[in-house]
Amino acid sequence: MQYDRNNALLQSSIPGLPEPRRGKVRDIYDLGDELLLVASDRLSAFDVVMPNGIPDKGKVLTQISLFWFELMDWMPNHLISADPADFPAPAQAVADDLVGRSMLVKKAGSIAVECIARGYLVGSGWKEYQAEGTVCGLKLRKGYVQADKLDAPIFTPSYKAEQGEHDENITFEQTVEMVGTETANALRDNTLKIYKTAADYAATKNIIIADTKFEFGFDKDGSMILIDEVLTPDSSRFWPAELYTTGANPPSLDKQFVRDWLESVNFNKTPPAPNIPDEVVMKTREKYLEAIEQLTGKGLA
Ligand SMILES: Nc1ncnc2c1ncn2[C@@H]1O[C@H](COP(=O)(O)OP(=O)(O)OP(=O)(O)O)[C@@H](O)[C@H]1O
Ligand SMILES: [Mg+2]
Repeated sequence: MQYDRNNALLQSSIPGLPEPRRGKVRDIYDLGDELLLVASDRLSAFDVVMPNGIPDKGKVLTQISLFWFELMDWMPNHLISADPADFPAPAQAVADDLVGRSMLVKKAGSIAVECIARGYLVGSGWKEYQAEGTVCGLKLRKGYVQADKLDAPIFTPSYKAEQGEHDENITFEQTVEMVGTETANALRDNTLKIYKTAADYAATKNIIIADTKFEFGFDKDGSMILIDEVLTPDSSRFWPAELYTTGANPPSLDKQFVRDWLESVNFNKTPPAPNIPDEVVMKTREKYLEAIEQLTGKGLA
């Protein structure tokens, strides 16, 4: 295990298991039919992974995903167990480092479409709307301002690019061409249903979920399951309701300090990123902890 000076887990290693694939945040151990997903404390901003991490961030992301999996029990998902006692023996031997931040999951044949639900008009959606009056090819009514709530949430798929490439927005018709009508319809319907359920729940906790990204896959019997992380601050825009305004980009609940600091040092958004100062690390950590407490009513397990 590699920790940084603030005790943030930068890289996991599990003697006795093959080297993992390392995503921006997760270390992915391939166990054949199953995967062991270990959420590190790595943080990416503007798609660049920072050299130092945010202590406990991986635990927050994992435990928020587990919370939603339980709440949305009608949607089949990839989780087998988050209890290290159920992990393979080499992982049990380093359980102290993995506990709270790891999930044993079904390995799914993944679908190369990222399923995005948007309830508000910001980011790339706002840019496209200003230029074309559309979002991912969907025509929207006139008169929206930046960060406006949409009349109804929309499904805006994107093509999951190879590692290092930026994902690319696609139309629903292109999604149908890629995966077929039945799968495309199921992706859209599941995405919107999960998003609406979560957004309604979060609203009661004074959090706006402006948008979010899901990934789905197929399990061994060919049923569609929800995979990856779910409705976390990394996969979604979470806004504190009391700071919400239109006409500007509302501050995010979690990464705003890091983004603001990177802008203040004129980070050019290409690697290598500078070391995040401890003060920014600690304030950001507080934000992640606030997010899980506000959302679930419980702190970290
Ligand atoms: N059940 C599953 N079956 C197969 N792949 C999965 C499953 N759950 C998650 N994944 C994949 O594991 C990876 C999670 O790691 P992480 O979130 O760090 O990756 P990322 O940086 O977002 O994506 P990538 O590195 O692939 O661009 C993602 O590539 C995701 O598609
Ligand atoms: Mg990811």
